[in-house]
Amino acid sequence: VLTSDGEFHSFARQMRRLEEDGLAVLTRVATEPFESFAARFAAAAGRGGHDLVYVSQVFYNSGFALADLAGLVAAVPDQSTEIVIDGYHGFLARPTDLRAIEGRAFYLAGGYKYAMAGEGVCFLHAPPGRIPRPRDTGWFAAFGALQDSVAGGVPYAEDGGRFLGATFDPVGLYRLVAVLAWLDEQGVTPAKIHAHARALQEQFVDGLANLRLAALHPGQLVVPLGQTDRGNFLTFRTAEAGALHRRLRDAGIVTDHRDDRLRFGFGLYHGAGDVDALLGRLCTALA
Ligand SMILES: Cc1ncc(COP(=O)(O)O)c(C=O)c1O
Repeated sequence: VLTSDGEFHSFARQMRRLEEDGLAVLTRVATEPFESFAARFAAAAGRGGHDLVYVSQVFYNSGFALADLAGLVAAVPDQSTEIVIDGYHGFLARPTDLRAIEGRAFYLAGGYKYAMAGEGVCFLHAPPGRIPRPRDTGWFAAFGALQDSVAGGVPYAEDGGRFLGATFDPVGLYRLVAVLAWLDEQGVTPAKIHAHARALQEQFVDGLANLRLAALHPGQLVVPLGQTDRGNFLTFRTAEAGALHRRLRDAGIVTDHRDDRLRFGFGLYHGAGDVDALLGRLCTALA
């Protein structure tokens, strides 16, 4: 398995567990330095021989984004290698066009982060024909093929349903469909959402520089503002991430922290006035 050292726990944990039992052998390409990541990852992919290439579109612990997904896919030489892109921080956060790779790569995302659909709704884009009979299967994967005889083996749906598990709560799907219809009605596209978040990030970082706070300043940005390949949150690297998170929470500012990273998210539901209020509160809380 070829992957990065910046994958979310949902994948990283499972892989570590398989490694414990000697069932997977992983090569993890370091995400930093970000400027050379795409080239280093493509070079590692180009050496071939992988069953799976798994990488994030936007890394959860930095915000760094892979802008050229098609280039990454093209770097994988073996047709038998499966390619999976974790698009969770990309979906409805960055304009994403999968047309060039839709026949080759799997793409995973969900409705909880940027799609305002709450928990319980994720999706998998499954390239037609790839992994037609997943070994880890559930009985919903047979819909469309339930009537087929089992003589040729366990039958599967030919569409993406071949990956379905079992009875699930569909309420999240209704929420996601409602949100997508509403965004459509308003003419809100992922490109507009991204541009809005970027503008707020710029306003925030400008204001933060002016505050000259010792505890939090633009010099701590893991992906500096000048680097445009980024998701819709800003990540600061500081040994005080946990303590800062608590101080900010007491000031009514919601952030999150993981290890030495403190993240500020900028969404559709924020405006310039919110960023002004954020800067004002930061000044009081951290000065
Ligand atoms: C990049 C990324 N991938 C995957 C996930 C996990 O999603 P789930 O909890 O639905 O498995 C998250 C959740 O935060 C994420 O940030």
